[in-house]
Amino acid sequence: MNPDSGTLERNRLWARLNDAVAAHAEPLPTPLMVVDLDAFDANADDLVRRAGGTPIRVASKSVRVPALLSRVLAREGFQGVLGYTLAEALWLEEHGVCDDIVVAYPTVDRGALARLVASPSAAAHITLMVDQVAHLDVVDSVRASQAVPVRVAIDVDAGLRMGRQHVGPKRSPLYDAGDVVLLAKEIESRHGFRLVGAMTYEGQVAGVQDEVPSQRARSAVVRRIKALSMTQLEVRRREVAEALRAAGVTLEFWNAGGTGSVEATVADAVVTEVAAGSGLLAPTLFDHYQSFAARPAAYFALPVTRRPSPDIATVHGGGLVASGPAGKDRLPTPWAPAGLHLTGLEGAGEVQTPLTGHPAALLEVGDLVWFRHAKSGEPFEHTNTVQLLAGSRFTEEVPTYRGHGLAF
Ligand SMILES: Cc1ncc(COP(=O)(O)O)c(C=O)c1O
Repeated sequence: MNPDSGTLERNRLWARLNDAVAAHAEPLPTPLMVVDLDAFDANADDLVRRAGGTPIRVASKSVRVPALLSRVLAREGFQGVLGYTLAEALWLEEHGVCDDIVVAYPTVDRGALARLVASPSAAAHITLMVDQVAHLDVVDSVRASQAVPVRVAIDVDAGLRMGRQHVGPKRSPLYDAGDVVLLAKEIESRHGFRLVGAMTYEGQVAGVQDEVPSQRARSAVVRRIKALSMTQLEVRRREVAEALRAAGVTLEFWNAGGTGSVEATVADAVVTEVAAGSGLLAPTLFDHYQSFAARPAAYFALPVTRRPSPDIATVHGGGLVASGPAGKDRLPTPWAPAGLHLTGLEGAGEVQTPLTGHPAALLEVGDLVWFRHAKSGEPFEHTNTVQLLAGSRFTEEVPTYRGHGLAF
């Protein structure tokens, strides 16, 4: 379903989701988390199409449900996990979910590092991200011997430089080829490390909407910045790759990009794999990109529990607010039935959420309202399980990371 599709389609969705709840053998608790597998699979196919043959490494922070990671990894076109903590990577490796995990952010988790260096299998299947010598030192601080080599990749800043301005995520301090080669040489000179990869995440392209109907002028500026970014980055990626080659470094992979940049990222010959996660579930912050239209695949239901006035329906729960700069776009969106709105005064409440808009008058105590979250993986931190939907039936209930007792 197109995110902007009209009232009719959203009301059909409401009926379909409610049918699935009604057909379920037992009453289902709320918040009720649902993933529509038809939409999820269609989105996976579309990411593969957009990647044009370049393997996609699934960004697990944007999924956080092991069964869904396994589902997508079983598809052709997806290869490996881009994880977000080492403890997560160890769990995925130990449980056979994946044998090729790149942890996308540096770690100082000494307990997890001690487990990594104690397991030749884990160390062979997991790659750590580094961007300074301190990240190597912390690995050495947990081991007495360098017998088990630790795989590392270098994170290179992928921001746009315009004069003294930097546009893009503030991550790695490494920008120029010279900086990267210095760290690469340090890694190669130290026993117990293997430099196997590089990463350049162009978040200012991959993670910023560029066709927002209510922000046409701003979107035009964003598209211009994205084009400039990719042109500048292509040159710098080539320079860094050539400098590494000249220094005698051979890499297994070069990871880059995200859901919003797939086709632009894979166009760069230096890149060997593209990362993507949010495009599978299509939260509201991914509704407005020029290059693709994903189908919403994740919903959560909250029940109407009271009617404070004839034109307000109040649901129980609601405050599943997304991370990032606080603003209205981080709030969950009442999606089905169509036409409901949060109120300015209470927003998405801690325990209850009043909703206005014309369908509110028609809702009765016990009816379900279906919401979409602003981000992709975060809603699954609020429930232990997810119902998987095929057509208008729930086919399976699977645990989230939280349901496995995991908090990463
Ligand atoms: C290093 C890295 N790569 C890729 C992504 C893209 O993930 P997604 O496709 O979920 O936007 C992210 C998201 O923040 C990231 O941090």
